[in-house]
Amino acid sequence: MSSLAAERQPRLASQVAADTTGGDVAVELRDVTKTFGQVHALKEATLCVRRGELMTLLGPSGCGKSTLLNLIAGFLAPDRGELEIDGHRVNDTPPYKREIGMVFQNYALFPHMSAADNVGYGLRMRRLAKQEVGRRVADALALVRLSGIEERRPHQLSGGQQQRVALARALVISPKVLLLDEPLSALDRSLRASMQVEIKEIQRQLGVTTLFVTHDQGEALSLSDRIAVMFDGQIHQIGSPAEIYRRPKDRLVASFVGDVNVLRARLGSIDRTTATISLGGQSIPVASEPLAGCKPGDRADLFVRPEQLHLSETGELVAAQGTVTTHIYQGGHVDLYLLSPVAAGGRLLVRSSEPDAITRWPVGAAVGVTVSGADALAFPPQDDKP
Ligand SMILES: Nc1ncnc2c1ncn2[C@@H]1O[C@H](COP(=O)(O)OP(=O)(O)OP(=O)(O)O)[C@@H](O)[C@H]1O
Ligand SMILES: [Mg+2]
Repeated sequence: MSSLAAERQPRLASQVAADTTGGDVAVELRDVTKTFGQVHALKEATLCVRRGELMTLLGPSGCGKSTLLNLIAGFLAPDRGELEIDGHRVNDTPPYKREIGMVFQNYALFPHMSAADNVGYGLRMRRLAKQEVGRRVADALALVRLSGIEERRPHQLSGGQQQRVALARALVISPKVLLLDEPLSALDRSLRASMQVEIKEIQRQLGVTTLFVTHDQGEALSLSDRIAVMFDGQIHQIGSPAEIYRRPKDRLVASFVGDVNVLRARLGSIDRTTATISLGGQSIPVASEPLAGCKPGDRADLFVRPEQLHLSETGELVAAQGTVTTHIYQGGHVDLYLLSPVAAGGRLLVRSSEPDAITRWPVGAAVGVTVSGADALAFPPQDDKP
């Protein structure tokens, strides 16, 4: 085992204990606000990151993700609010005393330094003995599978290798918290997928509390223990990937995380817990909470994932009618696009794992669409809610 991993073992053990006692907080933000002139980059953000977990900040460009990381790292100061690391207030603690490892959005390697010197930078700044620096740099490079390229400069490394050097540089100081700001955005799709697995494995092995920033919902769903979804400087929802995907709190989260169809429908019935949505010949159960204040007969938008829609012959009792316009073959499944008058935007996406979907439902075919499963959600129409 590398010395990095060995150092982290006690933390791994404490993490298990913490999980069984209801959680131990590594990073906490309370009502943190940050403005740049007229721009409200972060609005009263409140967030708890548990020790040892990998939390993702997911949100569109400009929603405040990098601002939040830079506040935790200490490169920015909040206008208001409290920041704690390991239970200690750090609002006035300089960055180098916060024991944080950070991979910046653009790697920010020092171009004139070799890979090994880049990785060892933080240790030299901490005035560790030369031998100790050498040992820990070698461990960190081995951890990210880069042994052998120690002497190369950044311009002699591929994008993926530069990314690993940046990761090793962040990990080598054995940080309390690892902050990764879109570390994979410059990589091609397959390298990105393999680096996702590697980051997750290294994170697990070291047990290091990690905040990972991305605007890629697939990356967030596959990597995270929990996801915090951000829009416009605010944290909208925090939950496990399954909670965020299956129980999005509002239509913004439902639309941003995963593909979704929005169908114009009406409320059939509503009580304290359950409502039904009437759509064509189907009555679809949904949770009533997002529809609070609505009455039977009111308009409602039904949110349905593409895998919850099924195609059938038009004569059957269906929720909607449509005409097939496009097939996108995806290997394990087929995405079929349909023109349908009940769809917001006029188009539906149906994800079919039937092996003969393309021949059974050819372009131009008139089809029926049914909704299945218990995961449909409904919200009041957008024009009713500014
Ligand atoms: N130093 C700054 N001066 C002025 N405005 C800033 C500064 N840094 C960030 N902003 C603004 O604050 C908002 C949040 O920026 P931030 O960099 O946190 O977004 P982000 O979610 O990381 O976006 P991206 O996904 O594009 O990296 C944006 O409107 C941005 O233009
Ligand atoms: Mg950013």
